Amino acid sequence: MKVTVVGAGAVGATCADNIARKELATELVLLDIKEGFAEGKAQDMMQTAALLGFDTKVIGSTNDYSKTAGSDVVVITSGIPRKPGMTREELIGTNAGIVKNVCQNILQHSPNAIIIIISNPMDTMTYLALNSTGLPKNRIIGMGGILDSSRFKYQLSQQLGASPSDLNAVVIGGHGDTTMIPLIRKATWNSVPVTDFLTAEQQEKIVNDTMVGGATLTKLIGTSAWYAPGAAGAALVEAIVRDEKKLFTCCVALDGEYGQKDICMGVPVIVGKNGWEKIIDFKLNETEQAAFNKSAVAVRNMNDVLKTL
Ligand code: 2OP
Repeated sequence: MKVTVVGAGAVGATCADNIARKELATELVLLDIKEGFAEGKAQDMMQTAALLGFDTKVIGSTNDYSKTAGSDVVVITSGIPRKPGMTREELIGTNAGIVKNVCQNILQHSPNAIIIIISNPMDTMTYLALNSTGLPKNRIIGMGGILDSSRFKYQLSQQLGASPSDLNAVVIGGHGDTTMIPLIRKATWNSVPVTDFLTAEQQEKIVNDTMVGGATLTKLIGTSAWYAPGAAGAALVEAIVRDEKKLFTCCVALDGEYGQKDICMGVPVIVGKNGWEKIIDFKLNETEQAAFNKSAVAVRNMNDVLKTL
């Protein structure tokens, strides 16, 4: 397996580091436009190989797409990150041009690659990648829901005093502070509904803290987070290269599922060697469906901005 990560910033490098440590690829290419940046980070990672005991060969390159040729999976993290007070949506103008260009360059050298989009605003960048490349929809996956679901589990674990890995919880909808929908009604602690253990106030706090999870970190750190986004990207790569058939929330093209069409949004999907393989119907109740529809309006408004660029 060959994997490429485009963008050697904090998220891209962390994602690459996770991929190397888990030996998800024989060859891993890290690409960046900044001279020497990806080469330096790749060498730094390779200098951990003897300590950590992995055999993945990490290669860094300054924008030479020929090095990425024949990649099976490509993770796109390129673009500017959020600064404190900025929404993911404010990045659209700059990041749209970058993502479109990266997709074209990637496909010239890896026509069969499955593409994972992490660049923000992620739902709109996924929609753009799908429409600008014309690739089969299963090969374009936006990474947002896996990260948001992991943040949801963290918030639940804090209130419950539980291990995050004992929790089952998903966030659907858009990957935005006001568009994501943590499905607390369906969240369980080793199969028991978490709502059995939490007051209405606690539940509300968990949902709200999850929704602004990324913004809270941006405020604390001064820039967008990277450990969880990088790990979430690598989890998606793992599900593809190991054909795991994992049930993840990913941003994918909807064609009537969850009542929406001509949009990419977070829904539960099965992920395996063909990319996202199937959308699973979680049977939302009326309130959840209404929240999903509202989220779709906001995502669609963002997508409309693409037409003005
Ligand atoms: C976040 O939520 C990178 O959008 C990402 O931290």
